[in-house]
Amino acid sequence: MSTRKIAIFDTTLRDGEQSPGCSMKLHDKLLVAGNLEALKVDVIEAGFAIASPGDFESVQAIANQVKESTVASLARCLKGDIDQAWAAVRGAARPRIHTFLATSPVHMQYKLRMSPDQVHDQAVNMVRYARSLCPDVQFSLEDYTRTEEEFSWRIIEAVIAAGATVVNLPDTVGYAIPEEFGARIARVMEHVPNVSKATIAVHCHNDLGLAVANTLAALRAGAGQAECTVNGIGERAGNAALEEIVMALKTRHDFFDGISCGVDTTKIMSTSRCVCSVTGSRVQNNKAIVGQNAFAHESGIHQHGMLANRETYEIMTPESVGLTQSQMVLGKHSGKHALKDRLDQLGISLSEEHLQELFVRFKDLADAKKVVTDADVEALARGLEMRSDAQQRLVFDRFLAATGNTNANVSTVRLKVDGQPVEQVAMGSGPIEASFNAINKMLNLHVTVENFSVSAVTANVDAQGECDLRIRHNQKVYLGRGVAQDIIEAAIRAYVHALNGLMEDEQRMTANAASLAAASGASLV
Ligand code: KIV
Ligand code: ZN
Repeated sequence: MSTRKIAIFDTTLRDGEQSPGCSMKLHDKLLVAGNLEALKVDVIEAGFAIASPGDFESVQAIANQVKESTVASLARCLKGDIDQAWAAVRGAARPRIHTFLATSPVHMQYKLRMSPDQVHDQAVNMVRYARSLCPDVQFSLEDYTRTEEEFSWRIIEAVIAAGATVVNLPDTVGYAIPEEFGARIARVMEHVPNVSKATIAVHCHNDLGLAVANTLAALRAGAGQAECTVNGIGERAGNAALEEIVMALKTRHDFFDGISCGVDTTKIMSTSRCVCSVTGSRVQNNKAIVGQNAFAHESGIHQHGMLANRETYEIMTPESVGLTQSQMVLGKHSGKHALKDRLDQLGISLSEEHLQELFVRFKDLADAKKVVTDADVEALARGLEMRSDAQQRLVFDRFLAATGNTNANVSTVRLKVDGQPVEQVAMGSGPIEASFNAINKMLNLHVTVENFSVSAVTANVDAQGECDLRIRHNQKVYLGRGVAQDIIEAAIRAYVHALNGLMEDEQRMTANAASLAAASGASLV
């Protein structure tokens, strides 16, 4: 069997982040980038540098952090965008500028108001300009699947001649059907004379639920780069899911004629969990590869078969995607080294300061619970907010709730606000609402809570509770996550986490306004 290695281009931090409610902060993005590098993806699309100063800052920080994978920034086919993209990625070990222009009749006529010839010339000029800055330039024909085929061949040939190293053919609106898309890619390989001088990439959206199938069909037809996101997050119905593409290639190596990629599949679960955690979006239980039930066997017949031979009902092993079954039996006498070892095995890397914080929470949990499982440790690490309490303006201290089905629910919450203990008491329809009301009262705040959920980390009655929520304030959304053995405490921690995000944002906006005012000689009133 021949072998052909394809590149995995991950766009979780760019297209994935564009999905509603999935926006990430700088330290979250760096965390995801670290996981993607450990997963050994070939390219990390870190963001859209011109979109905002925050986007620029995060693309630049990722470019400076990542050593192995290529780091790309998106840019429209405009000189200013390309300059910003280059300024953001130029510090990377392997920088790439990714520029795009729509080529379908509907986009050219109504969105761009440009003729096909103008689109052709703009694409060629901007690719040439990007190549004058960066040795690796990707050009995408936005809405390729609704682009007239012969026009697409003309553009592909011209941008390769202008220096594009990768030409991406996106199914922007999730319109393609696998056989049709595969055949189109095969015709590109046949009709574009200089096609061997660049890599052909595909980027599929999931509007008809076919993103992964379309991507795989294109790879079989000769595409050399698959674009995807972890957990399939992305605009509307999402993008092709990285874990599904990679595991399909691995599991059906026979069918895919030896096509392979360099991804370390044992890092799939930890990366998926990291993305869930920073976006606050969980995957559905029956999601392929990374869903909670993806490797669970419930029916008696299946369990019987599995006990006789795992291959009866298992086409890939849980271990191959990094799912460990072990339970960590560490008690209050266990040391930090044992915890660190377990974290390493789970693919979680923490600074010394965060490790210390996690250790304290772990000891409390070991006191209260007989068995501390991997899931408990992962949840604690996620709930840690990846920042130390010392950096937060609000730190949870304690609460006392009086609750019942026949009396009013009252909660007293004590936080440290900028290091000072502050306590408030309030009522609510339940103990969680009462606790949130107490915090609102002490901070004089009015925020809306959305997407509130509490779940158990493990299946036992002594399980930890994990709470995810979003708060909305002045049209902006902030995610919160909290973990504790008591679900009221988990909810308070999640609320405080989200409020810290809000306060950090407001502090940054005030500082920006102050420096703008100072620069213009005005004073802030
Ligand atoms: O879906 C799309 O067409 C894109 C491009 C910018 C590559 O995301
Ligand atoms: Zn896209």
